[in-house]
Amino acid sequence: MTAPENKSAQTLAALGVRQPDQLAPLFAEIRARFDADIAAVHDEKAWKQFRDAWLGRKSGVLTQITDNWLKPATPELKRVVGQELNKLRAYVEAQIEARRVAVEAGADESALARERVDLSLPGVTRPIGSHHLIRQVFQQIEDIFVSIGFSVVEGPEIETPYYNFEALNIPEFHPVRDDMDTFYIELPKGAPSPLLLRTHTSPMQIRTMEKRRPPVRVIVPGKVYRRDNPDATHSFAFHQVEGLAVDTDITFCDFTGTIEYFVKQFFGPGVKTRFRPSYFPFTEPSVEFDVTCVFCGGSGVSTGGGTCSKCKGAGWIELFGAGMVDPAVYGFVKYDPKKVSGFAFGIGIDRLAMLKYSIDDIQVFFQNDVRFLRQFP
Ligand code: DAH
Repeated sequence: MTAPENKSAQTLAALGVRQPDQLAPLFAEIRARFDADIAAVHDEKAWKQFRDAWLGRKSGVLTQITDNWLKPATPELKRVVGQELNKLRAYVEAQIEARRVAVEAGADESALARERVDLSLPGVTRPIGSHHLIRQVFQQIEDIFVSIGFSVVEGPEIETPYYNFEALNIPEFHPVRDDMDTFYIELPKGAPSPLLLRTHTSPMQIRTMEKRRPPVRVIVPGKVYRRDNPDATHSFAFHQVEGLAVDTDITFCDFTGTIEYFVKQFFGPGVKTRFRPSYFPFTEPSVEFDVTCVFCGGSGVSTGGGTCSKCKGAGWIELFGAGMVDPAVYGFVKYDPKKVSGFAFGIGIDRLAMLKYSIDDIQVFFQNDVRFLRQFP
């Protein structure tokens, strides 16, 4: 027996069709095959193959029917074959087009399903960071000084001995250099000047005065380096804010008033300040500023009753060095020491932050442990 799918490849005579009334069932059979096959078409590739199999000009089923059934048909069959074929063609074309639309929509749908965003899924949380406590303290200090007319400048961390020492009135064999265990940088032979990691922010006093004429009012936040072994109060890298105010009429009172204003703004109005004589080569007179102990309120007695361990019972804590700019320094920047006067100070930021936030180990600033950092959002 002939397989039904091959019927269009044979002539009607070969299929034994002689009467017009045999045609309707034959076309119905073809249509049934079409219906069965089209049901299996689900994607574009299959749809194209299917379309070509049925409508292909050379060997599509409809072409075969035209060639094998219609053309050689006997006159009494030809008219009915023509009619049936037209009906079949209309049906096949309409169904194939409808299938195309369905397949495309299906493709869209599955793409949608694939790309669908599930809004109920928990999102990827990107934790918002915060400024490091040292940066926050820099910011607090900058805000205070900017509010009273200072501007903020920054300078290089790699310096020449001239700016780090000589122009600050620290000549080569001055004993004070021993206090600053300096990192010198290895340079190729014949380099014009030795270079070092600045041991303090004070070189920016010189650089600023070289560039500007009085009045000068600047603060200099930045990193500084000394060859210290790390422990609870020492680090080879730490932070300072330098301050410098020079004008034609700056007095010691302006100096102490400014410092007191700063300390009260920073620690709160309850603290008291005092200064003691000290020595720095670039200030004369030089002082050391103290603040009443922020842990025991200046009483020297801890809350538990014993001697305050932070100030060792003194009630005062050493804060930072400062002084009136030594006239010798003006000589290096071509200021006239008879006409100008001013003050300078150098604040250790790590120490200040430790006092303000009761931190007892400077190393936590450099370890980047988020459990510490998160405490200062
Ligand atoms: N540069 C000094 C240091 O790092 C701190 C200092 C003291 C800075 C007195 C000053 C000052 O401007 O007047 O030890």
